[in-house]
Amino acid sequence: MYKTAILNTINSINEIPTMLSISLEVDRLARDPRSSATKISDIIRLDPALTGKVLKIANSAIYASARRIVSLQQAIARLGFVELRRIVMSIAIINSFNNYFINYEKFWLHSISTAYLAVELNNRIGKRANESALYIGGLLHDVGILVLDQYFTQTYKKVFEIASNRRFDLQLVEQKILGISHADVGNFLLTKWKIPKDITNLVAFHHAPQKLLDETNALSAKLVYLANIICNNRGIHNGTGFFPEGFYDDIWEELGLNVEDVDEIIASVEKRIETAKELLRLGGR
Ligand SMILES: [Fe+2]
Ligand SMILES: [Fe+2]
Repeated sequence: MYKTAILNTINSINEIPTMLSISLEVDRLARDPRSSATKISDIIRLDPALTGKVLKIANSAIYASARRIVSLQQAIARLGFVELRRIVMSIAIINSFNNYFINYEKFWLHSISTAYLAVELNNRIGKRANESALYIGGLLHDVGILVLDQYFTQTYKKVFEIASNRRFDLQLVEQKILGISHADVGNFLLTKWKIPKDITNLVAFHHAPQKLLDETNALSAKLVYLANIICNNRGIHNGTGFFPEGFYDDIWEELGLNVEDVDEIIASVEKRIETAKELLRLGGR
């Protein structure tokens, strides 16, 4: 069975990428009311590539301004802490994984859009979930796909083809052929990298949030789950979501979301797609 080989491979993957661990620290500091722009800049500056990309984005059309920014402190003043930590996490995550047959642009547009949408849904239910974990979990929810793509390219390509040609659910084909799903693979790697559980849980349960027993995390997992499905149904999929997935009506109701609002919710995300594209162009590889 591939499962053992896959788990062994993940176990042999080195430590967490530097840019990712620096970014998690930036995320933590940017949420701490006692920290300052100086403190945060000092951490970002440890990674020159990250620094360069943050400055590029702060000067991009998204945050159009006549004045050119040359320092991280100015970038933080322009972006604000919330936007800064989202940008830093997005850059770090995009740059921490490779892709082989998986389409880079499609994959990351789907992930960034899912992250934005999960936050948007959370705003609609009165911000009951932890926004930072939600955004990071949204970005990372499908990384197991990239791990399988990188280390088991030929086999995983077959899994992918079977799922798309026969219109089977990707997770079912993964279970059948590999004995493990991309959700479990992602969770396994991120846990190994000691990423906090309120993030890894969202990755592990993004296709089955109702199985997560921890109530606080289950709420976030449901938001990522819905965001993922909405993106797939709108064609913002990572190459795997070719077929419309069904909603669990009870999850909508449980969260207090109105299905009739879905058009409005989608419109707000579509506005963000352009930002996501720009983020990928300037912050990606
Ligand atoms: Fe997935
Ligand atoms: Fe997804």
